[in-house]
Amino acid sequence: MSRPLIAIDGPAGAGKSTVSKALAERLGLDRLDTGAMYRAVAWRVLDQGIDPGDQPAVAAVAAAACLEAGPEVLIDGHDVTAAIRTAPVSRAVSAVAANPEVRRQLVTRQRQWAATRDGGVVEGRDIGTVVFPDATLKIFLTASMEERSRRRGADESPAGLARRDRIDSTRSMSPLARAADARVLDTTDRSIDDVVEEVLSWL
Ligand code: DC
Repeated sequence: MSRPLIAIDGPAGAGKSTVSKALAERLGLDRLDTGAMYRAVAWRVLDQGIDPGDQPAVAAVAAAACLEAGPEVLIDGHDVTAAIRTAPVSRAVSAVAANPEVRRQLVTRQRQWAATRDGGVVEGRDIGTVVFPDATLKIFLTASMEERSRRRGADESPAGLARRDRIDSTRSMSPLARAADARVLDTTDRSIDDVVEEVLSWL
């Protein structure tokens, strides 16, 4: 029997990583954090002194990258698990993720990831809409701006979060959007256990 492929989308701070980790553990499925893939490319771009807005140069980095986004995130032999969460990467990542060629490259890799497994939990911005439109279950997480900013804490300023929301939601290719058949879940005043139980009840 084939196992579920669960797509989890939503803005930064909505709870995607926490919920997807808990779900993957409960169901014994692998998890893919696609945001970490865009962040790793952004890290490599900065590492090579490339302007994140230089679309052809950034696309070339993505095309050539040897990338692994498991519990540890590796790009071209560098362990960037911690570095991809730093402020310079958070500032650069939206421009990198708005690059259509980078998206094509990474979406192909995300589909390859799923093709070599039975089910999985995949989190991002366009998973239910573009990457896996036939996912078993699509969840769109939200939370109040105040709560999302509180969760990000010192990692990202409220202004930085708002800027990233704006770029991620208005880019021309695969903007952050809720799939018509996604279940929307507001995590603002809910515990992780409570959210996970509700999602499990939908399977
Ligand atoms: O989930 P995150 O905050 O780590 O994602 C980092 C950035 O990557 C985010 O600003 C938008 C982008 N992203 C995307 O465009 N598509 C995805 N599937 C995942 C992330």
